[in-house]
Amino acid sequence: MDGNGRWAKKRGLSRSEGHIEGAKTFRRIGEYAGDLGIKNISFYAFSTENWARPQNEVNAIMQLFYDYLEEARERLDENKEKGIRLRFLGDRTVLSPELQYMMDYIEDETKEMTKINLNIAVNYGGRQEILHSVKKIAQRVKNGELLPEEISLDDIQNGLYTLEQPPVDLIIRPSGEQRLSNFLLWQSAYAEFWYSDVLWPDFTEKDFDEALKAYEKRNRRFGGI
Ligand code: FPP
Repeated sequence: MDGNGRWAKKRGLSRSEGHIEGAKTFRRIGEYAGDLGIKNISFYAFSTENWARPQNEVNAIMQLFYDYLEEARERLDENKEKGIRLRFLGDRTVLSPELQYMMDYIEDETKEMTKINLNIAVNYGGRQEILHSVKKIAQRVKNGELLPEEISLDDIQNGLYTLEQPPVDLIIRPSGEQRLSNFLLWQSAYAEFWYSDVLWPDFTEKDFDEALKAYEKRNRRFGGI
C-alpha cells in the first residue's frame, strides 16, 4: 500500500493523514476483490523495516490497524456470512498486547471460513518468514523427527505464515516503485508483477481491474515452454 506519504505531502498534509486515506483504500479494494470472487488477497501494511520511521507515524499506523480490527470484530457476523477468513502475517510478538489479543481473537473466530482468505502483513518480512520456518525445521531435526536429507520444499512452505495458501499469482505495486521490498519472497517465486504510478490513496477499482486484465494476458510458463 505504497505512496501514502507522497500523497499527503502533495496536499500539504501530514504523513499520518496519508495513511488514513490509505486505510480507506484498503477497505474499498479489499471489499471489491471479494465481490470479484478473488479467493486469496494479501495487503502489506507494515514491514519489519518500517519501525525505522518516526515514532508518531508508527503509532498512527498501529492505531489505524487497531481501528480496523475493532471494526472487523464489530462486523464479525457480516464477515462470516461472506465467508471471510482473516489472517495476519508477520511476527506479532513485539506488537502491543491489545493488538495481539485482537489479532488472535479475529483469526480464531474466522478460522472456519473458506470463501476468502484476507491476509494483512504486519511486522512482516519475507526473509524473516523463511528464517522462522527454517528454525522450526532445525528444531524437528534436533528432536530426531526429521533427517536433514528428508527436508522438503513442503517443510519450508508449511512453516510460513501463509501455511496452506497457494503461491502468489499477481503482485500489484502502486506509486511507481518496481521492487518486491521483502514481501512474500517464497510465495512469489513465479508471481507476475504489475506496477502503477498511482499513489495508494488514489488507487481505484478501475486500477485494480486494469491489473487483473494485464494479468489475464500473461503467459505463465513456470519455467516450462
Ligand atoms: C507505505 O506508504 C505505507 C505504509 C508503510 C503503511 C500502510 C498502512 C496503512 C494503509 C494503514 C494500516 C493498515 C490497515 C490494514 C488498516 P509510504 O508511507 O511508504 O508512502 P511513501 O513511499 O509515499 O512515503
